[in-house]
Amino acid sequence: MLNLIKTSDGSNSLLNTELNETYHSTHGALQESNHVFIKNGLQFFVEKNKASSVSIFEVGFGTGLNALLALKFSLENRVKINYVSIEAFPIEWELLSQLNYADLISFENEKTNFEKIHQCDWDKKIEINEFFSLTKIKETVQSIELTPENFDVIFFDAFAPSKQPEMWEKSVLQKIVWTMKVESVFVTYCAKGQLKRDLKSLGMMIESPPGPPGKREMVRAVNGRH
Ligand SMILES: C[S@@+](CC[C@H](N)C(=O)[O-])C[C@H]1O[C@@H](n2cnc3c(N)ncnc32)[C@H](O)[C@@H]1O
Repeated sequence: MLNLIKTSDGSNSLLNTELNETYHSTHGALQESNHVFIKNGLQFFVEKNKASSVSIFEVGFGTGLNALLALKFSLENRVKINYVSIEAFPIEWELLSQLNYADLISFENEKTNFEKIHQCDWDKKIEINEFFSLTKIKETVQSIELTPENFDVIFFDAFAPSKQPEMWEKSVLQKIVWTMKVESVFVTYCAKGQLKRDLKSLGMMIESPPGPPGKREMVRAVNGRH
């Protein structure tokens, strides 16, 4: 079962009662997404590479919070984003519509954009607006076939390794690294030593920026292959 919860910064998240795991940090869902995925992932890549277009692959679409913040970033920075997200267990609109993200995140037509990213079809590339396209793939990360060197930024937002270890297996990480372009960036909130060692053994350069509230550090891995 999924229960609506409120995190410390006032933004909602969901609790998966079977796993006893939340979709975001209870210290602040919005702060975590902004810090880990937007600031240290998307913004880092755009600034470092002076990019005007970015392709993002997300593992775990969930509530769509990362997607909504990336959409905001695309409009505010006039950066074209091709956002592809995989989700094995899509959430019902009845529950999603109770999330308060569009009340807390203000940008052009935020409410309509929140509805659009959730109500658009799955398994189809949808142009949400002139800057942002979204492809939501209803599949497991274990079964999906990915194209080599296809993405600039990876948002790896699976449930914690203690709750869903199969998401963090080296075979999954290897598949993700396979789809990363040279100089692309992988970010996640998790800072486990095993993850860092696995990514390093796959050729990634590991950085540990400070984490969001409640977490000492996070992981950013840059693909330095030539
Ligand atoms: C931490 S939550 C994602 C949070 C999301 N990025 C957000 O902003 O709300 C992890 C997500 O991974 C999904 N998931 C679980 N097993 C999966 C699998 N095998 N393949 C792909 N997604 C999976 C869950 O359903 C859940 O939505």
